[in-house]
Amino acid sequence: MTVAISPGKIILLGEHGVVYGKPALAMAISLKVAVDIEIASQYMVNSHPLEERKHVYIKRAIDKLWNGSPLSITTFSQIPSASGLGSSAAITTAMTAALLAMRNDFSKENVARHSFEIEYEVQGMASPIDTSTCSYGKAIMVWKKEKQGYIWSMSKNGSTWYVYPFDVPDVSIVVGISSIKSKTPKIVKKVGKFIGHSSFAKDLLNEMETLVTEGVDALKKRDFIKFGEIMDKNHKILYNIGASSKEIEKLIMTARKAGAYGAKITGAGGGGSIIAIGDEPEKIREALKEKGKDAYIVLPDKDGVKVWK
Ligand code: MEV
Repeated sequence: MTVAISPGKIILLGEHGVVYGKPALAMAISLKVAVDIEIASQYMVNSHPLEERKHVYIKRAIDKLWNGSPLSITTFSQIPSASGLGSSAAITTAMTAALLAMRNDFSKENVARHSFEIEYEVQGMASPIDTSTCSYGKAIMVWKKEKQGYIWSMSKNGSTWYVYPFDVPDVSIVVGISSIKSKTPKIVKKVGKFIGHSSFAKDLLNEMETLVTEGVDALKKRDFIKFGEIMDKNHKILYNIGASSKEIEKLIMTARKAGAYGAKITGAGGGGSIIAIGDEPEKIREALKEKGKDAYIVLPDKDGVKVWK
């Protein structure tokens, strides 16, 4: 039996821009995914035969990393699927970690590399931010700029991303989940078309780059009020590049009315989740729940992916 647990993630600042080499800041969260793998007589997932269409990330991880006997995989998840909270990245990193451990080849960097390859193959376009965050834990900044102190770098189709550890303070973030599924590849393509055809969009991404660097400073100083203002400005850009929706805007307004210093989409958007920061996180969570939405208060996960065999 091999068990791996991976945290989910939130993007604090800079989603979409990071696909084009702009900086983004992400944090691993206290909502997790686990996989339990056992040798079996045929490939099974949660007691049903493995189906490529339903279990695409699991199937790709097996194809890439395993050529031994068939496996029976059981999954457990605290992360709603397609919620923008990294459920796909977490299942990929947990599967990859378990398979690498079974080959005696486990390291967080190896997990991050293979998981990024898998996510890229499945989604067609992605940055390594989700899979690196789930693998490493804590918080990371991803950027095309090479400076001192990165933990690993990854290249794909002519782009290189450097992954920097970020010492995130113990901050409570409120997550509000909309009832609309966020289809990351679809939204990334939609935003990509807009960026490809509009110099205005490119200006917005440059503005987002400035916001991310300012946000990193604010968070280091524990200036959550400033960080909230930056989240709001980041959200406005995400709205303008087509990553929001009516449902998401309602959640953002609810969080702000409940006293959030700032609120924004987290992840690809379209639907999915919002994040909010404030000095009374419970009040924000309750306001979101009163609107009939699932809402959580999450903390940074300190461990990243973990494996037992
Ligand atoms: C999704 O969590 C973040 C995006 O920037 C896509 C990516 O970086 O792969 C929207």
